[in-house]
Parts: sequence; C-alpha cells; structure tokens
Amino acid sequence: MFSSQGPSLRELAIQALSSVEGGYDLLAPKFDQTPFRTPDRVLDATADALRPLGPFGRALDVCCGTGAGMRVLDPLCGGKVTGVDFSTGMLAQAREAHPDAEWVRADVRALPFAGDFDLAVSFGALGHFLPAERPELFAGVHRALRPGGLFAFPVAAPQPITSGLYWALLGFDLAMRVRNAVWRPPFVMYYRTCPLSALRDDLTAAGFTVTTTPLTALGQCDDGTPRGRLVLARKAGTS
Ligand SMILES: C[S@@+](CC[C@H](N)C(=O)[O-])C[C@H]1O[C@@H](n2cnc3c(N)ncnc32)[C@H](O)[C@@H]1O
Repeated sequence: MFSSQGPSLRELAIQALSSVEGGYDLLAPKFDQTPFRTPDRVLDATADALRPLGPFGRALDVCCGTGAGMRVLDPLCGGKVTGVDFSTGMLAQAREAHPDAEWVRADVRALPFAGDFDLAVSFGALGHFLPAERPELFAGVHRALRPGGLFAFPVAAPQPITSGLYWALLGFDLAMRVRNAVWRPPFVMYYRTCPLSALRDDLTAAGFTVTTTPLTALGQCDDGTPRGRLVLARKAGTS
C-alpha cells in the first residue's frame, strides 16, 4: 500500500495521534506517496463524467490537499482554479506543484466564498466531517457557487458484508472511535458515515438538486452495479 518513499510506520502513528490539521501538516511532504491521495484512475473517471457538462469557468477544490484535483479541473476549466484546505503543509505542496492556481487556507466548515464558482469538487475528504457538520459544509459550497453551479464528488459503492474490505473499513472506524474516546485532539476520519442516501438528504436540505452518474471506467461490482458514482449537486438558476 505504501511505497518506500512514503511515510514510515512511526510517522503514520505520530500523524494519527495529532489533530486532522496537524496530522496532514506532518504527512504533507510524503502525502502523494500514500494511498490517501485520490488515485489518478478516480480523477480521470471523474473528468470523463464531468466533460460533457462543461466547459466550466472558475472552479473550487474543497479540501484540495496537495492538489490532486488539478488533474480534473485544469483541462475542464477556462477560469482560475482555487483550492481550499486548512493544512498549511498540504497547501505548500499544492502551491509548489501548481503555482498558477490560487491556494486558500480556510476551514471548509466556514468557506469564505460567495457566488464565485461555476464548479466545485471534493475528493477523498468527506469522512473528515461528522454527519452533524455536513450541513454547514454543504451550505458553504452552495454559497460559493454561482446560480446554476455544480458541486461534484465521487463516491464508492457500499461494500457487501461478505467482502474483506467491508470488515477492514468497519475495523478502521471502530479503532478511530476508540482512539477519539481516549485521546485528544480528536482525529475525525470515518469511512462509514457517508452513505449516499444521507449525502443526498443533506445536499437537498442545503438547496441542491441531486443526481448521480456512474463512473463507468471504475468497473462494476459483482451484482452489476457501478463501483463508483459521481454525485452531481446542482444549485438552482442559470450561470
Ligand atoms: C485525504 S486528504 C484529500 C486531499 C485531496 N483532495 C486528494 O484527494 O488527494 C483530506 C484533506 O482534507 C483536508 N481537511 C480535512 N478537514 C478539513 C477542514 N475542516 N477544513 C479544510 N480542510 C480540511 C485535510 O487537510 C486534507 O488535506
């Protein structure tokens, strides 16, 4: 899972005992060598699904990290791309890799934008938000978009109870619950708090009209359903 250039077990343990922000600051220089960075095949499948809906003007990458989303946004957007994240370390890596984009340090639970963007995306970050925090997150994205703007993010199909990954993710979440019960600061990262039905409800409550489209390049589950979907949350109006 980790390459030899990735973080050592000791570095990962120190990160896991930090806050989310502090943990990513520590991990930042080696983040792109970890499996936590969104893989290119997911980014490319997202770009394929978004292309027919574009072209777009200005775009926002919510929880941009080291800038993986630029692979999607740069070719699809004629306007400036902005990444927002609260980790100074992650933003420094993003800025170095993509000096032409705009990198903003902010907590995305209080996004500092209003009506600026045609497109917002987010990759690999929703597990960092408790369900109770999603309304302020989604309200901020809604506010950041122009009328008619689109918020898009990929979600994986739920794992069947018979799969090893189901039990691995359940075990991870249980370990994090124990960690957060006995250790401060908390490190919020849960894999099983974002079922599509709950995301859809929270996005709808924030004012979006929600559809999904299969990410066909990611293949199908054994039952024929897509392994990944792109959530498309549209703000009312015309851009
Ligand atoms: C798993 S990384 C994903 C980074 C990138 N989107 C990718 O796919 O490679 C999650 C990112 O979310 C950021 N993050 C988590 N909670 C945040 C918050 N409340 N405000 C801003 N950024 C946050 C972290 O700093 C980290 O860079």
